[in-house]
Amino acid sequence: MKNLLEISQLNNQQIKELIALATELKKKSCNFDQNYSKFSMANLFYEPSTRTRVSFELAAKSLGMPVINLDLKSSSETKGEILLDTIKTLEAMGINILVIRHQKEGIAEFLSNNVKTIKIINGGDGKHAHPTQALLDMMTILEKKSDVKKLKIVIVGDIKHSRVANSLQSICSIMQVGELCLVTPEQWIPQAISFGNITTSLKQGIKNADVVIALRIQKERFLPEESLNIDSYCQNYRITNEIMQYAKSDAIIMHPGPVNRGIEIDSKVVDSDRSLILEQVKNGVFIRMAVLKRLLDN
Ligand code: CP
Repeated sequence: MKNLLEISQLNNQQIKELIALATELKKKSCNFDQNYSKFSMANLFYEPSTRTRVSFELAAKSLGMPVINLDLKSSSETKGEILLDTIKTLEAMGINILVIRHQKEGIAEFLSNNVKTIKIINGGDGKHAHPTQALLDMMTILEKKSDVKKLKIVIVGDIKHSRVANSLQSICSIMQVGELCLVTPEQWIPQAISFGNITTSLKQGIKNADVVIALRIQKERFLPEESLNIDSYCQNYRITNEIMQYAKSDAIIMHPGPVNRGIEIDSKVVDSDRSLILEQVKNGVFIRMAVLKRLLDN
C-alpha cells in the first residue's frame, strides 16, 4: 500500500487484514518497535480535528516514530508557499508519511500524484472521503456483530455533506453488508450514492437496525444558499431512546464525533450502555497504527 486515499482502493481481504492487525495491536500493552524509529510522520490539518490528529500522533509515537505537527499559522504557506511545495519540502527533509486533512476534495490524491517518496494518508478531504474513519467504524461494528452480511446498518443525518457517509458506503459495499439505509431530510439527499438506499423517514429507516450511526450537521460545508431549521431537524431526526425502540433490542449506537449533544443525538443516548462512541475513538488509535505499519512494511 503506497498511500491511503479512499476506501475503494482496498479490497475485502485488505480491509479484513487491516482490522485483524488493529485488533492484534489493541491486545498488546506495548507496540513500540525500534525498526519504526527511522521513519517519521507529519500531521498537516487545515480543518479542526481532535480524534484523527491526536490518534495518528499517538499511533505513530506508540510504534516509535517521531511526529511533526505542522503549525499552519507559522508555516511558510503564510509567506506565499503553495501546498505542494510545502509537502515537497517535508519530503526533502525525509518525512516518510503525511496525514492531511483539507477542505478541498481530491487534495490527497493530487498530492500523491505529485510527490516522489512521501506516503499520503487522507485524514478527510472536504465531503469526499475519510477512509480511516470507515475502517475504525467497521472494526467497532465487528467487535460486537459477527456477520456483516446479515446486518442492517443505518446512517442518520447530514448525508449530503458527509465524507464519513461516503466512506461508510464504500466499506459496506466492499464487505457486502446486508443492508445500508441512509436517513436524511429531503434537502440533504445527495445527487448520487454508491451503496444503500435512502429514506427521509427515521422510523422507517431505523426499523430492525443492528447498527445506528448518527452524523453531525456539517454546517461548515453548507453553500451560501443552504439553510437549516434546527428545531424541525431535531424533532424529526434526533436519535433518542424512544426512536431506538424501532431498532433491534441489541442495536448499537455509533457516531464519528464530534458530537453535538441534544442536536443529532440525545445526551442520554450518547452515555447509554449501547453507545460505542468512545470505543470508536479508542479503536481509531489501533486502526491508524495498522495503516502506518502497512504503509511502511510494503
Ligand atoms: N471523526 C473525526 O474525524 O473527528 P475529528 O474531526 O475530531 O478528527
